[in-house]
Amino acid sequence: MKKLKIVINGNKKLCGSVRVSGAKNAALPELAATILSAQESRFYNVPRVEDIKIMYNALRQMGADGDFSGNTVSLRLAEIKSPLAPREIVETTRASLLMLGPLLARHGHARVFSPGGCAIGDRNFDFHLEGLRLMGAEIHEDGGHIVASVRNRLKGVHYSFPGKTVTGTENLLMAAVLADGVSELRNCALEPEVGDLIDLLTGMGAKIEGKNSETLIITGQTSLFGAQHSIIPDRIEMGTYVIAGCLGYNEIMVENTIPDYIDALLAVLTEMGAEVATWDDKVTARASGLTLSPVSIATQPFPGYPTDLQAQLTTLLTQVEGRSRITENIFNNRFQHARELNKMGADIIIENNVAVIRGKTVLTGGDIRATDLRASAALVLAGLIADGRTVIENAYQLLRGYEDLPGKLQALGADITIIEE
Ligand code: EPU
Repeated sequence: MKKLKIVINGNKKLCGSVRVSGAKNAALPELAATILSAQESRFYNVPRVEDIKIMYNALRQMGADGDFSGNTVSLRLAEIKSPLAPREIVETTRASLLMLGPLLARHGHARVFSPGGCAIGDRNFDFHLEGLRLMGAEIHEDGGHIVASVRNRLKGVHYSFPGKTVTGTENLLMAAVLADGVSELRNCALEPEVGDLIDLLTGMGAKIEGKNSETLIITGQTSLFGAQHSIIPDRIEMGTYVIAGCLGYNEIMVENTIPDYIDALLAVLTEMGAEVATWDDKVTARASGLTLSPVSIATQPFPGYPTDLQAQLTTLLTQVEGRSRITENIFNNRFQHARELNKMGADIIIENNVAVIRGKTVLTGGDIRATDLRASAALVLAGLIADGRTVIENAYQLLRGYEDLPGKLQALGADITIIEE
């Protein structure tokens, strides 16, 4: 893997409009869902980001015919040649986990790399395994891989998730659509990406009741068709550009999106005193000439404030006079951007799962390191408003989930490039 750095010369006013790409976290389970059918599926609005390329390559390795041109992906897995998602291909993503349910459902056997720990803290998957076991799967670990098999066919299950899990809901949903009998999944995640997966699966012939509710009733089918599906816009990318619009004198219009998806962020920005407007597929938020107030927020599952926009808001709060507080309730190690922001001049103190941010602080460019995807976005936002030159190591993190972020920011007037280390 090439070592890449992001280089930003800060303090430029950003102005203009930016188009949001398709949602990475919708595309990831949806490409995995092609395992469920022998027919071809075609996806539009697929973000060209590293995590999605990994999923696409893993499916090709399993025996899928495919094409990934521009933002369109076609995949056809007529026959599963190898039910294996090896470490080299899937190590950096949740890709392997999302293949577990579909592989068991169609093939009856899976051997996928165990995702294990992660830079943002413990990312357990016990509910995935518990649900699949209740559906009849036998599961054990072998040499860092999860090995799962089922005699005959998975059977329908009544399962209440002990806690909210996005990929857990997606995994059991994909298992249930081909299971024998009716499944009832309770306490399901409500994230829009789950709803989009339900739309895809329904298009493939699945029978699912309860979209956008916590209880899903799934009547298992013996086979599914291929489908054509356009992926919903990425709400985290949208939120990142909306926050960028509230920095300094920026004036950014975010287009091609669904503003309702970030109601929680827009409510926080409004509470802070930013000017927020939404219409059709557009959203703007600005703070130029306004005085923002500090806030106290806590991350929650959807429709609460998303953990994936926590780091970016932290950067904005370094520019707000007073003491703000962020409580991170989803992941237990998701404040690593704070250390890097402090190197640039921020004043952030972390105690357990709470960050206290004292502003306003002048940020100064320097050499910093991205630890995870959303932390890297927060550091880019910091670099954009910092005095001087910011160099962010480990740019790969950013490329995992933001399509052409440097190009989109350059078009708004930023001085940002990615170079080889
Ligand atoms: N959890 C369990 N047991 C489980 C599953 C989850 O205890 O079986 C816990 C986790 O440890 C965590 C919490 O429940 O503390 C929530 O985890 P969840 O399963 O919802 O997260 P995920 O499905 O692994 C997805 C996104 C993340 C996003 C989270 C929360 C994908 C591929 N990933 O992860 O996205 O932060 O939901 O919204 O959809 C990102 O894009 O940067 C990213 C990390």
